[in-house]
Amino acid sequence: MFKDDLGKRIAELKKKRDAIILVHNYQLPEVQEVADFCGDSLELSRIAAKTNAKVIIFCGVHFMAETASILSPDKKVIVPDIKAGCPMANMITSQDIRKLKEEHPQAAVVGYVNTSAEVKAELDYCCTSTNAIAVINALKEKEEIIFVPDKYLADYVSKQTGRKLITWNGYCSTHVKILPEDIKREKKFHPFAKVIVHPECLSSVVALADVVLSTSKMCQYAKEVEAKEFIIGTEVGLIYRLKQDNPTKEFYSASERAVCPNMKRATQEKILWALEELKEEVKVPDDIRRLAKGAIDRMLEIA
Ligand code: 13P
Ligand code: SF4
Repeated sequence: MFKDDLGKRIAELKKKRDAIILVHNYQLPEVQEVADFCGDSLELSRIAAKTNAKVIIFCGVHFMAETASILSPDKKVIVPDIKAGCPMANMITSQDIRKLKEEHPQAAVVGYVNTSAEVKAELDYCCTSTNAIAVINALKEKEEIIFVPDKYLADYVSKQTGRKLITWNGYCSTHVKILPEDIKREKKFHPFAKVIVHPECLSSVVALADVVLSTSKMCQYAKEVEAKEFIIGTEVGLIYRLKQDNPTKEFYSASERAVCPNMKRATQEKILWALEELKEEVKVPDDIRRLAKGAIDRMLEIA
């Protein structure tokens, strides 16, 4: 089928199924083109929580679809490719968290949204890259805080809040590919460019940034500031959205190696099949869902 026909067929079926298509900012351009909403983890969770659609086609990675299912249990959450997982989320299990809690019984437990539903069920608070600092700042009265799984996000948050955190050896296998020498090289080529990086980057990369932001906050920042050139330290897929939103500005990827293969699994064709067959569904069992929702709700109350 030609791309135009595919787009048309997706739009027709979407109506018929009463579906919306939620798309993470790292997805392929062809997927962003058929999105009802493109956003970061926090924005997509919020939309999933309040949509009236019966079906959510979630183009992102597995933990994001789970989060949508946790917040919208009456909706059918469908992923175009069930194999799209997040290596960072797979670096910690609910058993690991229980062990950490045994070792630090007084600690508040904060977990990044990049975790499985089972892990979220063990958390006191969830957080995203947008609100991690606000969540930690809200826990002033807590002497100890466990922060999992991303050690680089934890380091950034710890430096910004002045809190010592109990951390885990997790990391994003895509963001660690961006090296300080990449930023230095791009700065040489584009001396007037602002350097924006994601907090999942290595601490040595974060140290070279003008600003450290979530993917959607990067989009907002690029629109609002006067600068005309930007070096982007995150997954390469964001460049497409940045260019669409700001046709007169220039965006340079800090490293072409920063590709998340899981985020590239969805295609227009797979979205069409997902709408036709309403498969694969991601559904979180109710006992886990209730506990995990508590951690997400407590996050949304703070930020
Ligand atoms: P954002 O919430 O900033 O979009 O990040 C999600 C993610 O997986 C980054 O690697
Ligand atoms: Fe996970 Fe990193 Fe891919 Fe985001 S970019 S989904 S954190 S592996």
